[in-house]
Amino acid sequence: MDRWILNLLKDTFGNKGGELYVEDLPATRLSSEYGTPLYVTSEARIRNNFRRLYSEFSKRTPFRLYYAVKSNSNLAILNILRSEGGWVDCSCPAEIYEASVAGFPAERMLYTGNYNSREELEFAIKSGVTINFDDGTLIDKLPSGSKPEMVCFRINPGMGKGGKEGLVFAGPDSKFGSPEKVALAGYRRAKEIGVKRFGIHMMTGSNVLDPRYFAQITELLMDIAGRISQELGIEYEFVNIGGGFGIPYRPDEVPLPIEEVASSVVEVFRRKLDEYRMGKPLLAAEPGRYLVGDSTVLLSRVCHVKQREKTFVGLDAGMSVLLRPALYGAYHPILVANKLEEQQEYPVNICGQICENTDILAKDRPLPKVKDGDLLAIFNAGAYGFSMSSQYNNRPRPAEVLVSGKGADLIRRREIISDLVAGEQVPPRLMNR
Ligand code: LLP
Repeated sequence: MDRWILNLLKDTFGNKGGELYVEDLPATRLSSEYGTPLYVTSEARIRNNFRRLYSEFSKRTPFRLYYAVKSNSNLAILNILRSEGGWVDCSCPAEIYEASVAGFPAERMLYTGNYNSREELEFAIKSGVTINFDDGTLIDKLPSGSKPEMVCFRINPGMGKGGKEGLVFAGPDSKFGSPEKVALAGYRRAKEIGVKRFGIHMMTGSNVLDPRYFAQITELLMDIAGRISQELGIEYEFVNIGGGFGIPYRPDEVPLPIEEVASSVVEVFRRKLDEYRMGKPLLAAEPGRYLVGDSTVLLSRVCHVKQREKTFVGLDAGMSVLLRPALYGAYHPILVANKLEEQQEYPVNICGQICENTDILAKDRPLPKVKDGDLLAIFNAGAYGFSMSSQYNNRPRPAEVLVSGKGADLIRRREIISDLVAGEQVPPRLMNR
């Protein structure tokens, strides 16, 4: 088995007599108690991830860690991150609402939308959150007469990088952010309407495992920030370098050396603050995946094994539960939770029950011999797992459980069939005919 999975199995999950544990609880017990498919999250792993990232940056410079709510918006998880001292990045009014239900005050929220409607901007102004404008001209769409306390713009620094083609969020083909000129005009406009407090932001891509990238992109942002600051005579309260910190999914990938990332980013940050005399803003980042990605395993049962030229192992979780493989060809490590010690020698295609041929979670993946009822564990399902799930093919969404030591709590009940039709209405003229 590969090194980083072995470490994950040691740190967060466990292997006792060939059986997978999540912290101190056996996966088989969790699955029989709560059913499958089931998202199981380790609370300790989220706390450790937060502390590792936060301490590497904060020991070098005043630092603020936002959590990208979109990666996993479960209220229990938001509460964990709030208790660690996290702030939140919300992409829409619903995420602002969710974060406030989880106890985040508006002062700890950044709202990074894109192509916002006037109604969304009005909601944000009323909520009192800091708006991070994706386009320099959006400031003119604020409700008339409103003057935000603080204004931030999302910069497109001209290049981006992501673990997959679809995960690059900056550069000429990106729909996100503002180039320097457009942002400059936006800050100027904000100054004209009397705004006095400013931040600056970028988010250039997701799941980046190249440690050198973060300092490179920070250098681009700092040059842009510096020129705008000198031109307009403004000071920033924070410089947010976005998220994008990758985690290993494939066997040959290695974890991001976060100490190296933090020290190289902070070196550039400090140097550029001096060069442009930008005062003493906070450094900020807003990861999703790095904080929650490897905290969660998706447990799913084998429903049927089909022997053809290839062997298809059919699970009760497919693309409606975990979309990443079908959408991005993403790789997730998969182990048989009740057969961890058995040789992984039979290559199989692992699929779900959805009526799409892209409903494949893994191709030609070596597993021990499996049979109906075996429990599969799909790792790294904590970020963009439940949050991208759907009810496609009329599959109710799964339950979520949070494990802390020997304790487990249901943090989202399994949907039932009546949930599928809960919002629907049939006009009376169509009934009983
Ligand atoms: N900030 C903003 C403005 C974002 O749009 C995102 C992610 C993040 C922060 C957090 O990025 P992270 O640290 O998690 O890379 N569905 C894809 C990922 C899409 C990310 C969207 N934005 C996936 O399954 O990999």
